[in-house]
Amino acid sequence: MKTEIVRIDEENIDIDVIERAGRIIKEGGLVAFPTETVYGLGGDALNSASSEKIYAAKGRPSDNPLIVHIAGMNALPFIVKEVPKAAYRLAERYWPGPLTMIFHKADSVPAKTTGGLETVAVRMPSNKVAKAFIEAAGGYVAAPSANRSGRPSPTVAKYVIEDLDGRVDMIIDGGQASIGLESTIIDLTEEKPMILRPGYVTEEMLAAAIGDVETDRSIIDAACDKAPKAPGMKYRHYAPKGNLTIVEGQAEKVVSYINAHIGKLREECGGVGEKADGVRTGVIATDETAVLYQADSVKSVGGRRDAEEIARHLFRILREFDDEGVQVIYAEGFEQQGVGAAIMNRLLKAAGHQVICVDDKTD
Ligand code: TXA
Ligand code: MG
Repeated sequence: MKTEIVRIDEENIDIDVIERAGRIIKEGGLVAFPTETVYGLGGDALNSASSEKIYAAKGRPSDNPLIVHIAGMNALPFIVKEVPKAAYRLAERYWPGPLTMIFHKADSVPAKTTGGLETVAVRMPSNKVAKAFIEAAGGYVAAPSANRSGRPSPTVAKYVIEDLDGRVDMIIDGGQASIGLESTIIDLTEEKPMILRPGYVTEEMLAAAIGDVETDRSIIDAACDKAPKAPGMKYRHYAPKGNLTIVEGQAEKVVSYINAHIGKLREECGGVGEKADGVRTGVIATDETAVLYQADSVKSVGGRRDAEEIARHLFRILREFDDEGVQVIYAEGFEQQGVGAAIMNRLLKAAGHQVICVDDKTD
């Protein structure tokens, strides 16, 4: 399949391109598009065949449901059984935006779109290109993140092209995603609202709108043996090609632990200055620590206290290590407060939960 790649400026949207993209969706095709969280791989949410195509293009197991993207509140009642009060309260504060809500689904939504579940995940993105595109596409766009299954979600079009060129009809390049992590998912189908995936809209923000919310323990606790309720959270995800380990603890100890291990690796695999023959090493550092590391590739995700900046850069940096052929990666750990909970959730999954704590134990 030939993929058309088009660039759109969010502040000066080319309506002809948007209409062409909308037509592709209405005719059962696939279009990757920008949102404020990450890029999405879109198809007609009300068409089973389109959802099947999404699973195939992404290489995703078809029991992993898709999020239905809408452009306005008036689109919601058609695809859900009922809209609980909490949903109106959340929508008022956080829609359009990086929040996905789960409802009991109406018959209009095919089982293929929801991975066979009786519930449906719905999000209204704030990105203007996304909004215009969803409207042009008929109002209901099913879209997982626009990466091949298992890879970090794309926050720039370059990585959408890398994963999906030749597998979708069109890729809309809308520049860098402003948030950089996928939406927060909240399940409103149980008695108590439950966070199934942490994101930019934090637990505190949700509680401020609707009172007490719970968090699905299985998504944050590696030792928890219960299957997470969001089917996608059980899969290995966001993984770079290199072996990633998170090192937590006091900053100085983290730096010396990582440098010591990189030094050891170099001795074992060819020595300093012979990187091409030896193992290539990388560190996910912060502005405060980046100069202190001795790895082949040191990348700062941002200031340690700026969780939003860290969120924006994390997935791109994981991809860049792949581009550079880095085989062993160390990452600093982050506080699980606010957006930090989402950052650590993604980082832990990317690392397959390999974590070393240097405060308790130095080896
Ligand atoms: O920010 C985002 O949410 C991005 C952009 C494109 O909107 N989309 C995204 O989609 O991250 P995806 O498919 O990569 O992740 C959706 C997650 C999966 O873990 C899936 O299992 C879960 O949402 N999910 C979808 N529908 C669900 C449902 N009915 N019940 C429980 N979990 C659901
Ligand atoms: Mg995804």
